[in-house]
Amino acid sequence: MIKKFLKFPDNFFWGTATSAHQIEGDCGVNDWSPNFFIKYKNQLPWCQDALAKIPAVGLACDHYNRYEEDFALLQKINNNTYRLSLEWARIEPVKGVWDKDALEHYRQMLISLKNKNIKIFLTLHHFTNPAWLAAEGGWLNPKAVKYFCRYAKFIAEEFGNLVDFWLTVNEPGSYVFCGYLQGFWVPLQKSWWQGLRVFCHLARAHRRAYRLIHQTVKNKFGKEPLVGFANDVQAYANYVKHRFLDQLHVYLVYKISNHGFYILSGKKSHDFLALNYYFPVRLERRGLLFGQLGNIDEDRRTTETNWLIHPHGIYEVLMDLSVYKKPIYITENGIATNDEDLRERFIHEHLEETYYAIKAGADVRGYFYWSLLDNYEWAEGYRPKFGLIAVDPKTQERQLKKSAFYYTQIIKENGLWLDY
Ligand code: GCO
Repeated sequence: MIKKFLKFPDNFFWGTATSAHQIEGDCGVNDWSPNFFIKYKNQLPWCQDALAKIPAVGLACDHYNRYEEDFALLQKINNNTYRLSLEWARIEPVKGVWDKDALEHYRQMLISLKNKNIKIFLTLHHFTNPAWLAAEGGWLNPKAVKYFCRYAKFIAEEFGNLVDFWLTVNEPGSYVFCGYLQGFWVPLQKSWWQGLRVFCHLARAHRRAYRLIHQTVKNKFGKEPLVGFANDVQAYANYVKHRFLDQLHVYLVYKISNHGFYILSGKKSHDFLALNYYFPVRLERRGLLFGQLGNIDEDRRTTETNWLIHPHGIYEVLMDLSVYKKPIYITENGIATNDEDLRERFIHEHLEETYYAIKAGADVRGYFYWSLLDNYEWAEGYRPKFGLIAVDPKTQERQLKKSAFYYTQIIKENGLWLDY
């Protein structure tokens, strides 16, 4: 048997990722809160549906009150970086009015991470919107761009000296796909036209916020910030590899889905690439441009969210997106499972493929496991367990899982062992 050590680059960022709404507990004033659905059920008909379809977030991991405990756990598992998001609705609960307490709260959180020498990736928008914005049509309303930029500038002024990497928006593709095309996320819409408009508004918001964050941080703190967005990328393939039209179809979907936001928001508006990779997608062509997702009928390995496990996909997307010649951070990769051996294997195999991509020239500088804690998984509620750390919903007690120790070992050694 051959035993080989796959060493990662020096100063590699090893972290975990979370988002505010999924762990903090219900803030009551964003558009995923039951309060919002109740308040707007007559004005916005989809809120009626949401009351039945969207699981209530409740206390989540009560991270808003327990962040110190969670940051201590981050240290315990040796993370040298952490990705978190701000809840815009807490900071601007009423249009144009900043909430000083919420702002101070987040400032203390960021200071606490800094004091622990943990690098900070800060997401400004991770799916949830302030209720007032949703009531004005959310991202369908072109004014959302202006509102978002005002918020981004404000945060850059306040936290410009604390943040290491800025992520304007999280997964615009999933946001549109799940919320506006498939309609199982807020705001439960099924319209290509609306989806396209929202995607364009998000791209415009990113481009402007990129410039604003740069200007603001430079003027106020005399340093050049690093700004990007978190892109959801999939490894696309078809069933028939050697047929020209099928290849063209995959190519077009790849371009639209994995590159679309870069193209729309302008290639100069990205200092680095942040990629979230979970699964591959098989496409079946219908005509030249249209197609459908293939069935998962091959009896392959899947996760508790029914996603195919395909580690080589991460290699493919890393190599593909290397064309931009920018540093790459894998800002999300993870598995919903109750099987700790499987979680370890998932991490191992995806890191192995990442290693090969680095060897092949991809400038990958960091990896964030999704997620630190078992948390609220949008339309799926609390069923899928993505965390390295279990959270007891009744007592809020945290418990490190076997995979947390496994990940810690990889971080300590800055690499992983391969036996074959
Ligand atoms: C997303 C998000 C996360 C998810 C994670 C697991 O991709 O939807 O960025 O909020 O929880 O990806 O599905």
